[in-house]
Amino acid sequence: MNIPFSKVAHAGNEKKYIEEVLASGWLTTASKTREFEEKFARYVNAPYACALNSGTAALHLGLEAMGVKKGDKVFVPSMTFTATAEVVRYLQADPVFLDTEYGTNLITPEILKEAINNYPGVKYLIIVHYGGQPAEMTNNQGTGILEICKENGISVLEDAAHAFTSKLNDTAVGNIGDITCFSFYANKTITTAEGGMLTTKNEAVFQRVKKMRLHGIDRDIWNRYTTNKQSWEYDVIAPGYKYNMPDLNAALGLAQLEKAGQFRRRREEIALYYYKHLNHLAEYIDLPLLKIPSENHAWHLFPVVIKEKSPVNRNTIIKKFAEKGIGTSVHYKPLHHMTYYKNKYHLKADDFPNTEKTWQGNLSLPIYPDLKIEELEYICKQFNEILQKL
Ligand SMILES: Cc1ncc(COP(=O)(O)O)c(C=O)c1O
Repeated sequence: MNIPFSKVAHAGNEKKYIEEVLASGWLTTASKTREFEEKFARYVNAPYACALNSGTAALHLGLEAMGVKKGDKVFVPSMTFTATAEVVRYLQADPVFLDTEYGTNLITPEILKEAINNYPGVKYLIIVHYGGQPAEMTNNQGTGILEICKENGISVLEDAAHAFTSKLNDTAVGNIGDITCFSFYANKTITTAEGGMLTTKNEAVFQRVKKMRLHGIDRDIWNRYTTNKQSWEYDVIAPGYKYNMPDLNAALGLAQLEKAGQFRRRREEIALYYYKHLNHLAEYIDLPLLKIPSENHAWHLFPVVIKEKSPVNRNTIIKKFAEKGIGTSVHYKPLHHMTYYKNKYHLKADDFPNTEKTWQGNLSLPIYPDLKIEELEYICKQFNEILQKL
């Protein structure tokens, strides 16, 4: 068997829409991008959506539009991809790294309250909906993350790189807080090869992001060439960035969006299969802690933790899986172990006990729509053999 860790499903209208873009003669940001923005906004029920060329660009412009500036402090989890924290540094602000809950890798209301006590005065928070499970942004008691932030004057940005198609109760991620950032990198729940989307309820944020994604120019290129105003005429209102999504990528996104519900259901089936067929290994592995109905989860990742008493450690298991033709990954080596953040902010492992416990054994198993049942059976069988026959 040869089972990669990740594989893109693209059996829908991808080719057709790409050919339409090629035939149109206009490859960069234009009508397909606009259509993708409109359909995406409708999907997550957000008032505004702005397509970008990466999830990182979405995070950067989101923070910029929130007003994060030099010397500000921003809460971020340590258990995330470096993009979540690097965008804080783009703006010469400083990340304040937080531990996350064991089992979900999420920042919880309790963790946030403790952080506010320990670091009074921090006015920004980036929440990562790790693996596709949304954090507790709101709850019935009115004590969710958004409520705590409101009481403490903290602005929140949601890093939903893993969480397109996730819901919290009946609300889609993308329409929970004020600003949400998605990634369409090749391994994500839908892909545009590289790409991202920022959704917001705030018109001023939307207008700012739209301008800053294209050099701070006050009119987008499509607008410049489709109105009667002469196309050469534009103004620059700020030194912006080159973060626009080309139509070629949006074409992929439109085709993927049509399948998003189907993709999510297939990922969920795989996750439920893993829960059922790995449950008996509970002595050696912890399965991801599910705190929401499984149908509300995007299931971008299926991260297990190999326990200390397992006869084989995580790194050996990865090698053994590779020998059997199975690709796995690790999400993540925490940021407090990365040289740059560790040295710059003098970070100590002891300050992140849950993240440390996870990091000793975390391992992500393949989960994607095209993973076949016989491949799943094979993965579970090999996992059993690796753990019990040594
Ligand atoms: C949690 C998280 N945030 C942000 C990003 C950045 O997204 P992109 O690769 O589209 O820039 C990723 C990408 O893997 C991610 O996993």
